[in-house]
Amino acid sequence: MKFFGLHTDVKKLSVKPSFFTPKTWVELSQKYLADVFGKDWQDEYYVWDCAAGTGNLLAGLTNKYNIWASTLDKTDVDVMKERIHNGASFRKLISNLRSELKILAEKIEPKVYEYGFLREYIFSLYLIHIVLKNVTI
Ligand SMILES: C[S@@+](CC[C@H](N)C(=O)[O-])C[C@H]1O[C@@H](n2cnc3c(N)ncnc32)[C@H](O)[C@@H]1O
Repeated sequence: MKFFGLHTDVKKLSVKPSFFTPKTWVELSQKYLADVFGKDWQDEYYVWDCAAGTGNLLAGLTNKYNIWASTLDKTDVDVMKERIHNGASFRKLISNLRSELKILAEKIEPKVYEYGFLREYIFSLYLIHIVLKNVTI
């Protein structure tokens, strides 16, 4: 049977259509969204992929907090959840966080140094004592 111009087994399609969007189409879809809703669309809108599969269509979105994903199969849900914890974008976030923490540590580190305030104070008193002893008024 023809469905959207394609020869398809509509029975199967109605039960569980399964097709995974190629990366180029994913990128194009996000470009179209930005064209229509503006460059900050990800911060201004929520995204709900209601047939998300393993989340291909959501790949590359930067504001993960505004994404909702639901799908039929529990195994696909598990894959998406695993990606939240160990996927490429999670690893990128960790890497960015490490860089930020390194910069912060480099700013804080010089504030920690060796200095014996009493030792320096006593030494200064000793020097003053020597100087005063040798000064003739
Ligand atoms: C066409 S794939 C698209 C997956 C993903 N959004 C992508 O673009 O790569 C559709 C997905 O929706 C799921 N699905 C099919 N029928 C569904 C339904 N009635 N409710 C929720 N999810 C469904 C399928 O299991 C499949 O993983």
